[in-house]
Amino acid sequence: MCGIIGFCGYLDAKEELVKGLAELEYRGYDSAGIACFTESGIEIVKSVGKVAELENKLPPRMESGCGIGHTRWATHGGVSEVNAHPHQCGNVTLIHNGIIENYHELAKALENTGRIPVSRTDTEIAAMLIDSLYNGDAMEALRRAVERLKGAYAFCIMFADQKDVIYCIRKGSPLVCCSSEEGSVVASDMVALLRYSKEYFVLPEYQVAKVTKNTITVMELDGTVVSPVMLSIHWDMSAAQKNGFKHYMLKEIHEQPEAIRRTLAPRLKKGKYLLPDFSEDGIQDELFQDTNRIMITACGTAMHAGMMGRILMERLLRIPVNVEVASEFRYADPILDEKSLVIVVSQSGETADTLAALRLARKRGAKTLAIVNVKGSSIARESDYVLYTHAGPEIAVASTKAYTAQLTAFYLLTFRFAYVAGKLSEGQVSDYMKGLNEVGELMERVLEQKDKMKELSKRLTPAQDLFFIGRSMDYALSCEGSIKLKEITYIHSEAYAAGELKHGTLSLITGGVPVIALATQEDVFAKMISNVKEVRARGAMVILITKEGNTTAIEKDICDEHLILPASDDLFAPFTAAIILQLLAYYTSSYRGLDVDQPRNLAKSVTVE
Ligand code: AGP
Repeated sequence: MCGIIGFCGYLDAKEELVKGLAELEYRGYDSAGIACFTESGIEIVKSVGKVAELENKLPPRMESGCGIGHTRWATHGGVSEVNAHPHQCGNVTLIHNGIIENYHELAKALENTGRIPVSRTDTEIAAMLIDSLYNGDAMEALRRAVERLKGAYAFCIMFADQKDVIYCIRKGSPLVCCSSEEGSVVASDMVALLRYSKEYFVLPEYQVAKVTKNTITVMELDGTVVSPVMLSIHWDMSAAQKNGFKHYMLKEIHEQPEAIRRTLAPRLKKGKYLLPDFSEDGIQDELFQDTNRIMITACGTAMHAGMMGRILMERLLRIPVNVEVASEFRYADPILDEKSLVIVVSQSGETADTLAALRLARKRGAKTLAIVNVKGSSIARESDYVLYTHAGPEIAVASTKAYTAQLTAFYLLTFRFAYVAGKLSEGQVSDYMKGLNEVGELMERVLEQKDKMKELSKRLTPAQDLFFIGRSMDYALSCEGSIKLKEITYIHSEAYAAGELKHGTLSLITGGVPVIALATQEDVFAKMISNVKEVRARGAMVILITKEGNTTAIEKDICDEHLILPASDDLFAPFTAAIILQLLAYYTSSYRGLDVDQPRNLAKSVTVE
């Protein structure tokens, strides 16, 4: 998704903007540009490709203390320099993250006033609109523009006759701000603020930030000055660096044990029994007592965490639990009421479809609880309750530590809910919590075997098609393994409920097709082994993942490769098996020479629909 940076201060604006864009690269983009106030007016430089290519185009002398920068993830209009931001129309120079849904209608109206766009973007139309409404009063122009704009936006705007001032306004798309000795900074997310300050605020929707070297003034559209809610970042710059790893993804795979321990720590109520404790999260037991059904909604990997949560919750709580992808949920007609609990899951807390699903759930009267990794994000702010994962910044597009931290959050919620509902005794919950507390160590043991996964990935590297099969929790995990593999290796992959194979997919299993079979759940183990035999009989290259202690003996020669997880309760196998699937995807992508951290066409946070 697009990255936005604005700087107004006492350093070289051009340099600060390029550094900021480099820190936002992980969001995914295909072109970049900056605009700076200089002695000769507003200078704009744009380029297709990486920030490094933009940097090479910058004129040596572009003296400025104030400017805006943008990395574009193409939505309206192809990848080209003309379509790259910033866009300039008359007095207005503007960058944008989001989608203007009524830009056709606006373009028509503007054409009637003789304004003809040069690009194919909705952003240029927005700039044209604001310029058409601007007569020296920026607040008036923004007030009138907001009345006509439909869709999502985070704008940074410079007016030619207001030197060294940046105006910002947002709706739907994220924008965070901070002040520092070096100057004032605005950005799409806090990773780009870390260099300046750990204290920041989220610009509330429909409010305007007027950014100058020394101050950021936040106002309602009527000009009333307001004080934004300040937040603190609890991790330092190094947390958002590779720290010696070749890729962010590999670093974040290795950070998982620590991410899980950090997510657990503030929720461990020590005493005779080890029980989940949400008092610091402001989640009271009444939430569980007044709930008779649960709906989980999210996108991508977050939804896969929800699939695992559903299995666990239905098994232990014995109430109906459903999972729905947010992009479907938001256009469905869900049956919800005040006794429904909707759990929305999102690493970034900014995914447009998930945010829309949350808003629908609230409109239908459901209680909402967000499992989110980014503090102060839109989804966190708009939910009734928030259970933060403490995975730290996740930079790689492929989500890993956020996923297992989301699982941890679901396990904590389920154990507390089961205790409150009398489904589990204190002793039973305590036993489960002890098992959850040991997961970090089990994952570290799997990480020690990473060279085995590295070697095995060589067998996957040439694959054209690849299948993951599993049952129960292993099926939910297969879905996650499949998205991990395809999004960074570009190998076509599908996850299948193993029992479904003979209802169609088995026709695709031919000689040498890799099948990764997850068989960690004792209650369906024998069935899984027969599914493994089915695919092997048709020539599949089978990688079988089981758990130490699976009682059913594994016949000889039943698979090509056999990976064994450390012994644990079946309930915790997803944590250790996830590491194997993540490493297989990572090393396969590396062997294929691909951009592991920023795979083609994808963005870290999908803030557009
Ligand atoms: C996962 O590896 C992908 N990057 C993607 O599916 C991601 O999980 C999805 O876009 C949801 O993002 P969120 O958790 O920030 O809402």
